[in-house]
Amino acid sequence: MLTDPFAIADAYRMLSVMPKIAVLAGDGIGPEVCAEAVKVLQAVDQQHELNLTFERAVIGGAAIDQYGVAITDSDFAMCEKCDAILLGAVGGPKWDDPEATVRPEQALFRLRFGFKLYANLRPVKVNSTLIGASPIRQEVLEGTDLLVVRELTGGLYFGKPSKIFKAPNGVTKAVDTMAYSQPEIERIVDTAFKLARERRKKVTSVDKANVLSTSRLWRQVATAVAKRYPDVEYGNMLVDNCSMQLIRDPRQFDVIVTENMFGDILTDEASQLTGSMGLLPSASLGTGKFGLYEPIHGSAPDIAGKGIANPLATILSSALMLRLSLNRPDAAETIETAVQRVLDSGYRTVDIVAPGTKQVPTDEMGNLVVEALREAVAAA
Ligand code: IPM
Ligand code: MG
Repeated sequence: MLTDPFAIADAYRMLSVMPKIAVLAGDGIGPEVCAEAVKVLQAVDQQHELNLTFERAVIGGAAIDQYGVAITDSDFAMCEKCDAILLGAVGGPKWDDPEATVRPEQALFRLRFGFKLYANLRPVKVNSTLIGASPIRQEVLEGTDLLVVRELTGGLYFGKPSKIFKAPNGVTKAVDTMAYSQPEIERIVDTAFKLARERRKKVTSVDKANVLSTSRLWRQVATAVAKRYPDVEYGNMLVDNCSMQLIRDPRQFDVIVTENMFGDILTDEASQLTGSMGLLPSASLGTGKFGLYEPIHGSAPDIAGKGIANPLATILSSALMLRLSLNRPDAAETIETAVQRVLDSGYRTVDIVAPGTKQVPTDEMGNLVVEALREAVAAA
């Protein structure tokens, strides 16, 4: 019998014939990119009869302005009744006061932690059509296809933070703490090995074991988990070395597994292999099907409202949602193929524009993906 409330909620979700998606657009370019992803999901819904329903809620800075908190309890509860969450981005200079106790990012952390979404999957695949958009040389990039498995509910992000305070000696200080437990490390490393089995069977565990005690535990646990997967090649790498290896020879990687903040930093770096932060999707999962899907980029306040943001990372995140939470790999693939067609036809948002390509605004990029979906069906 199911007793865990999360397992019960998951079982109900599997019975659901009308998948519910919580759309949390957030701040900055969040609403712009989410609008395009929803447009694409609605088009795919018509073709594949997914019967999707959308529930919207305000989070991040927008929620702070409206309700005084980054996400309200009732909106969190609404998300719990959904099958998956599609999230844009949160944050902006308006809410950046270093003394503030209420911050837009708290919405993200509550969703990630509250739904126990400990596994953040960030695929980084170099698209040969876009190879010129990366600052890295083509011969280094060709064939790069890696997956960063970032631990998402532990480490510095969830250690008790101090306020900025004056120590008794009069010096101003602040303290963050980093903690990891054996089970937290074991479950994320295990996820990485399972995923590696479906790929090229190689796991690189990234840590800073020469300095951090949490990393020494991480390495110990990862090495023990690796023994259960003798068919998967396993190695360790220090995070500073990894950041260098990612641009020196990215093809050496298949699955990278690492703690929360290292994963955050390495994926911004890795996005440059693909050409733009605006291209990388992500999925955050726990033990069940429920997931949170968001682009890896932030709210980009500098370009918000200009209609120039790249919506592809969010559109591709919605494809991951169909595959991983809604059991519709067929519909996911249709979106990915449509995105590829649009790029192959030479359409680009400003972040990836190059000589000989056609620059289009955010909404036009969404429309082009929808058109490509329709053409694919017409051709079938
Ligand atoms: C990400 C973002 C977030 C993170 C920020 C907005 C808190 O950078 O999802 O990578 O650090 O996790
Ligand atoms: Mg980040």
